[in-house]
Amino acid sequence: MHILITGGAGFIGHNLARLALGKGHEVRVIDDLSTGYADNIDALDVDFREASILDEDAVASAMKGVDSIVHLGALGSVPRSIEDPLRSHQANATGTLTVLDQARRADVNHVMCASSSSVYGMNPALPKGEREWTRPMSPYAVSKLATEQYALAFQQSYGFDSLAFRFFNVYGPGQRAGHVYAAVIPTWIDAMMKGEPVWVNGDGSNSRDFTYVETVCHVLLDASERRVSHPEPVNLAFGTNTSLLDLIEQLTALSGITPDVRHRDPRHGDVPHSMADNATLRSLFPDVTAVELEAGLEETLDWFRTLA
Ligand SMILES: NC(=O)c1ccc[n+]([C@@H]2O[C@H](COP(=O)([O-])OP(=O)(O)OC[C@H]3O[C@@H](n4cnc5c(N)ncnc54)[C@H](O)[C@@H]3O)[C@@H](O)[C@H]2O)c1
Repeated sequence: MHILITGGAGFIGHNLARLALGKGHEVRVIDDLSTGYADNIDALDVDFREASILDEDAVASAMKGVDSIVHLGALGSVPRSIEDPLRSHQANATGTLTVLDQARRADVNHVMCASSSSVYGMNPALPKGEREWTRPMSPYAVSKLATEQYALAFQQSYGFDSLAFRFFNVYGPGQRAGHVYAAVIPTWIDAMMKGEPVWVNGDGSNSRDFTYVETVCHVLLDASERRVSHPEPVNLAFGTNTSLLDLIEQLTALSGITPDVRHRDPRHGDVPHSMADNATLRSLFPDVTAVELEAGLEETLDWFRTLA
């Protein structure tokens, strides 16, 4: 089949492109390279369109001949959205609506969207089921709530098949460090390898449901192939609850490097604890198996070693 990946030059997108090509699918990518990298896809046999998902003509052209869309294009990061909420809104909310609207016009009626666990925000429930109330704590989280709700509303309005996945802290090879909005795992591995301090925001008790990128990509591809649709958001995580201090311990044991851990003030907009109830995921994808954190961190460390 022919799959369009928006944001396909990004971390999750290029891992998905590689997996889909390996299974014999044709892949087209639209990405404006605002946070993605051309060299992520240089070696992949994809039809790459360098354009913004806000450019209606470019999006319309990218839809031609496509069977399914995986919409990952967005400006990630809570702090980035606090610095520049309008830009995050444009890319994430207006960008999603543009993709969905052009999909409707092109009759490509299967779209999977990337929402985020950040939509639960101030809700302290653990684990978090999809019917728990949402209360975003950042403009990023609001824009992701808009993303998923547009995708689901298109089912009712236009008879779309769609899936709105809530990703929970995805990590793995290809996720880069070295920029101000980088995620915690690559940032810490990079710091450890360079002998630089590992900065913890707060006391380190915050916890996350870390999900390995390969697991996420298998679910996305399976959803494309089987044209899965669901009327409610779907948590894409496995109910693990790793505190940041536990994560440091695991990285220390696996890498053999003792980090210089330092603490600073908690970040605005950061959710304290995040852990998925994934009963919906398991009912829609009964064959899914998750790569354990230890194995995923090993692979991630190996990837960082190739960069050294
Ligand atoms: N990585 C995570 O832990 C995580 C967690 C929750 C949700 N998500 C969501 O998953 C998706 C993919 O995340 P990622 O980690 O691969 O991020 P990423 O930043 O590596 O990838 C996003 C890609 O979208 C592209 N992009 C941004 N604005 C664009 C625009 N206007 N037009 C075209 N392309 C644009 C970027 O250049 C980048 O290549 C995003 O929607 C993100 O919000 C990720």
